Amino acid sequence: MISRYEAAKNVFVDSIDIDNYIELNSSQKAFEQLQHSMEKPLKMILLFGRPGTGKSILLNRIQEKLKDQKEIYYFDTPTTSEKEFFQKLFKVLTHKDLPKNTEVNFSALIDFCKNLRGKREIIILLDEAQMYGTEMMEKIRLLSDTRSVKFIVSLHKTEDEDLIAKEHFQSRIWEVIELKNANLEEQTVYIHKKLLKKNLYEIANSIKPKDINLIHSFTKGNYRECNKLMFTMFEICEYYDKNEPGKIDYLHIPRKIIEMAGLKLGYIHA
Ligand SMILES: Nc1ncnc2c1ncn2[C@@H]1O[C@H](COP(=O)(O)OP(=O)(O)O)[C@@H](O)[C@H]1O
Ligand SMILES: [Mg+2]
Repeated sequence: MISRYEAAKNVFVDSIDIDNYIELNSSQKAFEQLQHSMEKPLKMILLFGRPGTGKSILLNRIQEKLKDQKEIYYFDTPTTSEKEFFQKLFKVLTHKDLPKNTEVNFSALIDFCKNLRGKREIIILLDEAQMYGTEMMEKIRLLSDTRSVKFIVSLHKTEDEDLIAKEHFQSRIWEVIELKNANLEEQTVYIHKKLLKKNLYEIANSIKPKDINLIHSFTKGNYRECNKLMFTMFEICEYYDKNEPGKIDYLHIPRKIIEMAGLKLGYIHA
């Protein structure tokens, strides 16, 4: 038997697939801010926020939305070395592959970019930029100084590095756009819209305001945490639905199940 909760569970698998993008006030605002910043003669723009606040999906959304009007590229998590990074950049800029066993000559790349000025404007969306070292970031900055490549740099905000990172970037007069965790209202919209998008009306209705209060108190409105909690919650529902349907109420998710999911993920302790 397939439980109705299986589909609901899968709605909350963590992904940056833009087909699953939800318009939220804050993401719309950040989108507009970014777009506006991109029109300014800024060289670098910083997209800042804690892990799970929606930076990657927003960058993907921007690329998707603007790709017909602009030369825009998304660079995902840098697992690559500096050498590979510059090879990739070389390809994007020159539309050519670098001959085998050669490395990018950085000053030649800079000259190449200077020559592009006024002819092309390339936008690079650089995700997870906290992974790049200082030296790399300095080179990226030099490239942006040519004004033919604009970087949107996405950076994780961590508890202690917060201010240092922010100050470092602000002192370079970049524009800073910050993504935050959802407030209660936004989290409600997020959860409901996610479910409604997959036509799971009944299930969306079975999650009441006081349930979302509890979910919000566990996850603090973080989208990734929210996904994890919702997934786990529906996984438990699915189990009961299949094995002990008496413990499930289709009209209202039992609070106990939300608590069990919270317990399993370590938000509360037994
Ligand atoms: N506006 C949104 N629409 C749909 N899903 C979102 C939205 N914002 C965040 N999410 C979801 O939350 C999770 C975390 O988002 P992500 O972009 O990976 O965060 P970050 O890159 O800041 O760590 C992903 O599963 C993503 O799909
Ligand atoms: Mg990310």
